[in-house]
Amino acid sequence: MANVTLLDGIFKESQEKGMEYLIYLDVDRLVAPCYEAAGETPKKPTYGGWETRGIRGHSIGHWLSAASTMYSVTMDERLKEKLTYAIDELAHIQSFDKDGYVSGFPRTCFDNVFSGSFEVDHFSLGGSWVPWYSIHKIYAGLIDTYQLTGNQKALTIVTRLADWARKGLSQLNDEQFQKMLICEHGGMNEVFVDLYKITENIAYLELAKRFCHKAVLDPLARGLDNLEGKHANTQIPKVIGAAKLYEVTGEKQYKDMAEFFWNQVTKHRSYVIGGNSIGEHFGPEDKEELGVTTTETCNTYNMLKLTECLFRISQKVEYIDYYEKALYNHILASQDPDTGMKTYFVSTQPGHFKVYCTPDQSFWCCTGTGMENPARYTKNIYYQNGDELFVNLFIASQISLAEKKMSIKQLTVFPESDRTQLVVEQAESVHLTFQIRVPNWNSGPVTVTVNQKDKHTTTKNGYITLEGKWNKGDIIDIKVPMEVYTSPMKQDPTKAAILYGPIVLAGALGTEKFPETDIMDDHLKLNNHPLIDVPDLITDDMDVRNWVKPVEGESLTFKTDSIGQPGNKQVTLIPFYKLHHQRYTLYWNMMSHTMYQTYLTEKRKKTDFLNRVTLDAVKPNEQQPEVEHSIKKHNSRSGYVNLYNCGWRESVNKGFFSYEMKVSNDTQMYLFVTYNGDDTDRHMDGKMYVREFDIFIDGTAIAHQVLKKNKPGELFSVCYEIPMSLTEGKETVEVKFASEEGKIAGGVYEIRIVN
Ligand code: AHR
Ligand code: ZN
Repeated sequence: MANVTLLDGIFKESQEKGMEYLIYLDVDRLVAPCYEAAGETPKKPTYGGWETRGIRGHSIGHWLSAASTMYSVTMDERLKEKLTYAIDELAHIQSFDKDGYVSGFPRTCFDNVFSGSFEVDHFSLGGSWVPWYSIHKIYAGLIDTYQLTGNQKALTIVTRLADWARKGLSQLNDEQFQKMLICEHGGMNEVFVDLYKITENIAYLELAKRFCHKAVLDPLARGLDNLEGKHANTQIPKVIGAAKLYEVTGEKQYKDMAEFFWNQVTKHRSYVIGGNSIGEHFGPEDKEELGVTTTETCNTYNMLKLTECLFRISQKVEYIDYYEKALYNHILASQDPDTGMKTYFVSTQPGHFKVYCTPDQSFWCCTGTGMENPARYTKNIYYQNGDELFVNLFIASQISLAEKKMSIKQLTVFPESDRTQLVVEQAESVHLTFQIRVPNWNSGPVTVTVNQKDKHTTTKNGYITLEGKWNKGDIIDIKVPMEVYTSPMKQDPTKAAILYGPIVLAGALGTEKFPETDIMDDHLKLNNHPLIDVPDLITDDMDVRNWVKPVEGESLTFKTDSIGQPGNKQVTLIPFYKLHHQRYTLYWNMMSHTMYQTYLTEKRKKTDFLNRVTLDAVKPNEQQPEVEHSIKKHNSRSGYVNLYNCGWRESVNKGFFSYEMKVSNDTQMYLFVTYNGDDTDRHMDGKMYVREFDIFIDGTAIAHQVLKKNKPGELFSVCYEIPMSLTEGKETVEVKFASEEGKIAGGVYEIRIVN
């Protein structure tokens, strides 16, 4: 990688933004948790967000990896200086512990574990939040700093830290070890493979194998996918470690695990941008379930690492097809080009938007991997295998092959243009076989000319082979045609994304009802920000090229014909990687006119009947309807769930909320109330509150309701009969929801009076 540098282009710009943040971060603040964990006073205060929680210290690890990788590709001396200082500080902090322990949280949790008697669940071990996950970042950061900048002290620190772990873990039998691995542990197997490769100490290889979590990896080796419901980012690093174990041991089971996992995740468990997971977990196979908390960015960082490793093992072009898709559409898309801040989840909920971290108060897991991403852009553009040079990605860059005394520039503005050019800058009759990737987006043949002459080429395994002796001044021109096409959703062909070559085109939907800022300390805060209506694309023409056209003079900008419904709207599409600070959609409702009529009829059927029988309705959380219905409340709050595009209200602890609602004085009336089928007891302030409440009409209780996951995954409604005696002779009644001490009334999502 050290031989590849970026030339001007979208990746270089993004890399430079990423670099600014690495320079901005203060090493004294990053190592502060490590001082505190050692019982010493830090020189400066710690950062906020996750750096104040159990996982603290993970960020110095990520920063070491990011800064050393960035140094290796830019040679920026400011980074080298900061790295040297950081390593000196960590060595100093390590000297406080007789066994060489150093991390951002106290070692007590590990001491508990090493005793053999410890508590474990998926995210806590020995009383701490994912301790191996967090310290893994420090191991990886130290290894990277040693390997990429030659800092010997980093190697000394990490081997002492490795020996501390080895000594402690030697007290565990295999059963205890595997039990420990129930808790998320990052890439601990991977770092011990790396340490073995560096030191050739066989004890590290043995430990790498012990760190393989059998309950997850063994089924994968047998071709069994038990991934549904598993925490995604916990599993991916385990598999990277397995792939690396294959590289050093040649033991087939490790390769089987890694290949099978990669196939399942990329082909059956990923979204169109190459990311995976919903609410951090793998959902059902072949189902792109849309939502706000989808495609955690760390997961794709890790999937790229795994893909790179598998490509080293066997040079299959499909690895790079995936790599390219995820690199442009998720990783490049995950950094704000204005501020350099990073995303956590990337929403696939139509009409939502990206949310980025703040520089000092977030420090999420994805802030950490997000720091590393821009430094890694030079990876996998090329791959050298002896006399073969694979040209995998069409990214403006320069590569030097020192042993061949050869250097090549790749000049391109891809994907703004479908051309790329390889210019031999230095070489004297050098024998080399170029393997030029033929991408999988099927838009016409890839063509190659050498020194402007057509060249007879052969294509093998997805690569065009160009063998020859090369000299300074030789030029290879490559054309990789691109067109727009659709990618239907796996479980529902009436929903689809639109792509151009490898680039996902997102609907640029503007800033209607946009939050004041989308740069947040807490990534969860805007999850339930109200959505907007996203047009449906309705056409009988199945060929998207006929109704999505490039906008002249605006690079990579497209417009649909007036097929956005309702309202015959035109929709603007731009690359998702370019889309920031506005609403978007990645997936569209896309269907023929006939199908759309059926779709609308089905949708209307439900609401039409209800509307016909409804005399009055209130939507909680909406100011006007609540005021118009003379809301009264005590200990009550309201919110919004954008999954249902709907507000709610609840009250606690002898709280209530009520509305004045119209009734008919001579007909049987019913109260029709909508609830959330996932609502259940809630833990607050160290106490459990049950959702159990009464419903009153003008002070008389007409129903008692309990909410305990009554219908998971959907809203549901209950219809209560209102005794006629309570409505006779009246035009309005008070509808009140109230609970006793220690109980919750609601959440109520809609209230209707129906007949
Ligand atoms: O638990 C540590 C990290 O935080 C996980 O890998 C990520 O999914 C989570 O949110
Ligand atoms: Zn993350």
